[in-house]
Amino acid sequence: MAGGQVPVGGGEILSYYEGIDEAGRLVRGAGPLEFARMRELIGRFLPAPPGVVLDVGGGPGRYACWLTELGYEVHLIDPVAKHVEQAREASGAQPEHPLASVMLGDARSLDQADESADGVLLMGPLYHLTERDDRLAALREAHRVLRPGGMVITKAINRFASLMDGLTESYIDDPNFVSILRRDLEDGQHRGLPDDFGYFTTAFFHRPEDLEAAVLEAGFERMGTYAVQGPGRVARDLDGRLADPVKREQLLDLIRSVEEERSLLGMSAHFVVVARA
Ligand SMILES: C[S@@+](CC[C@H](N)C(=O)[O-])C[C@H]1O[C@@H](n2cnc3c(N)ncnc32)[C@H](O)[C@@H]1O
Repeated sequence: MAGGQVPVGGGEILSYYEGIDEAGRLVRGAGPLEFARMRELIGRFLPAPPGVVLDVGGGPGRYACWLTELGYEVHLIDPVAKHVEQAREASGAQPEHPLASVMLGDARSLDQADESADGVLLMGPLYHLTERDDRLAALREAHRVLRPGGMVITKAINRFASLMDGLTESYIDDPNFVSILRRDLEDGQHRGLPDDFGYFTTAFFHRPEDLEAAVLEAGFERMGTYAVQGPGRVARDLDGRLADPVKREQLLDLIRSVEEERSLLGMSAHFVVVARA
C-alpha cells in the first residue's frame, strides 16, 4: 500500500500515535523490561538469520533495526506516517544494517508475495484491531506471506493490564478511568478519552485463549504462550534493577522461570503467542 493515509479504527488510533511519543516508549518506565523480554522471545523463536522478517505494525522501528543488526532482511509496515518516517530515520542512522523496506500499510492486507517471509512480527495490530474478523484477517495475511515452517510472533495486551495499571498508578481515583476499566474487564474493548491520550486509545485487550483460538483458526500450529513482563513490573526500583547487570539477569531469569505459568499470565501487561505456519 503506497502513499496516503491507511484507514485504521475511526481515525483515533492514527491521531493517538501522531500525538504521543511511541519512539520513546521502550526506553521509559517499564519499557526497557518489555524490550529485553521481547528480544529474548523473538531471538528464541525466529528461524536463525539470515532470513526475511516482516515487522507488521513495527512502529518507529526499534525491533526492526535490532533484527537487521542480527543479519535479517527486515521489512517494516505501519499505518502511521510518523512511525514510517521515524523508522526510515532509524534505518538511515545505521547505514551498515539498513531496513530492506519501510512502508505505510495495514496488517489485514499486505503487499508481500505468498510464502516470501521466514518470520512475521505482529506486535501491535492485533490489539488495535477491535473486531475478531479483522484480527483473523491479519493472522491469515501473516500465514499467507510465511513460508511453510515460518514463525509468527503475535503480541497482545492482557485483559487485566489496565486493572494492574489502575492499581499501581492510582488511576482508579479518576472516575473516567474507572468507567474505561469496567468495560475493559467486561469485554476487553478499551476506549481512551477523546482529546486526552493519557489512557491509551482504541484497542482490544485479550485473554490468552482468545488469541490462541484465533491463531489456530488462521491455520497456524501454536508453539507456546508466554508472559512478556510477567510479574516483573511490581519489582521495586525496576530502573535500578535493570541497570545492574547481575540484578537484571536475576530478574529476567525469574520472569523466564514463570513465563508459561497460566495462573500468573494475568499479571503480565503483554503476552505473546508464538505459532508456526
Ligand atoms: C504500541 S505500537 C507497537 C510498536 C512495536 N511493534 C512495538 O512492539 O514496540 C502499535 C503499533 O501498531 C500499529 N498498528 C495499529 N493498527 C495497525 C494495523 N491495522 N496494521 C498494522 N499496524 C497497525 C500502530 O501504528 C503502532 O505502530
